[in-house]
Amino acid sequence: MKRALITGITGQDGSYLAEFLLHQGYEVHGIMRRASTFNTERIDHFYVDPHQAGARFFLHFGDLSDSSQIDNLIYNIKPQEIYHLGAQSHVRVSFDIPEYTGDVTGLGTTRILEGIRRSHCDARFYQASSSEMFGAAPPPQDETTGFLPRSPYAAAKVYSYWMTVNYREGYGIHASNGILFNHESPRRGQTFVTRKITMALARILAGKQTHLYLGNLDASRDWGYAPDYIEAMWKILQMDNPGDYVIATGQTHTVRDFLEEAFEYAGLDPDSHVRIDPKYFRPTEVDILKGDPSRAIRELGWEPRITFRELVRIMVDADMEQIGLEPPGEGKRILEEKKFKWLGRP
Ligand code: NAP
Ligand code: GDD
Repeated sequence: MKRALITGITGQDGSYLAEFLLHQGYEVHGIMRRASTFNTERIDHFYVDPHQAGARFFLHFGDLSDSSQIDNLIYNIKPQEIYHLGAQSHVRVSFDIPEYTGDVTGLGTTRILEGIRRSHCDARFYQASSSEMFGAAPPPQDETTGFLPRSPYAAAKVYSYWMTVNYREGYGIHASNGILFNHESPRRGQTFVTRKITMALARILAGKQTHLYLGNLDASRDWGYAPDYIEAMWKILQMDNPGDYVIATGQTHTVRDFLEEAFEYAGLDPDSHVRIDPKYFRPTEVDILKGDPSRAIRELGWEPRITFRELVRIMVDADMEQIGLEPPGEGKRILEEKKFKWLGRP
């Protein structure tokens, strides 16, 4: 049985990846940080008591700022695959806490890579690199595009990207970068723009909120569906040779497009509810991201299955349902049709 170790297990991607790997028959270990309340909402639906016979899912406390526990876990678990997804992942917040972001999102990667090197374990390593690293580089962006980071978060990710490449070349570690463009889902953190929009929409429909405050509506992103992208992460580590892959849809849409698509689907006019609050603007913005996933399509045999329009419907349906409203249902139908067999809940 293959063993995988996931950092960021409680996050959007960590929760989907754990579910996917468990479905593939893996033993899955996740690192979560200690909080005063439980932050396991995204993984509760597949959590099983580790004392139960045949249990294959184990959680460990740890923090990316603390190498002692990271070393212990890598040495004791001896995973064949390590998916490093943990990070301070919010771009706007990284301007407020640049030092912390550098420590966790940047140095955290080095702590894992050093753990692998020093324990002499032959784990394959996946680094959650980001399209945000391209920053001001004009689209379309692919594996040959130079990085022009525009935030402390992006700069930390560029550092992690190059550490991954260096440990691959210097120590022969099977270390790969997945350069993932924005990917969203009903499990997306509530302060990222897509989820902020779909949650506010559901709350407005339910009469719990009247207005939605946003920042720059003109920024363009290449938005995909997180479960699609999880499958790409796994495929990257199944390759005989490590490498770096852009994972994207190849389509780009503005924040305004997302807003209009969501409100229109639910039968509301965004102009009556949306207001601009300058506090959501960033000191430096990434204007447009549009990935070229040709290499992933060619070498990994990966392709996104969910379109932008479908993604919006999936997210609106899920948030309406969560608040107790009957959703239009198109999103639920799309998920059934596309058959993500490993998905316990959206
Ligand atoms: P997310 O939902 O914000 O999850 C981040 C995870 O990291 C959470 O489990 C969080 O724990 C954990 N974490 C944060 N600080 C930590 C620390 N000091 N020690 C240990 N764990 C810590 O992010 P995501 O959307 O799943 O993204 C996963 C990874 O992919 C991140 O590295 C992100 O930067 C990268 N990425 C994401 C996208 C995207 O569009 N989603 C695109 C490209 C790259 P808590 O639950 O306790 O907060
Ligand atoms: N969060 C947020 N909140 N963003 C807003 C808002 C708002 O109220 N209004 C407009 N935006 C704009 C931002 O300025 C940005 O241009 C765009 O919406 C997307 O913002 P986010 O959803 O916060 O995502 P991001 O693109 O900055 O970063 C995400 O994607 C990266 C990959 O490109 C994160 O998941 C990163 O961790 C990831 O690496």
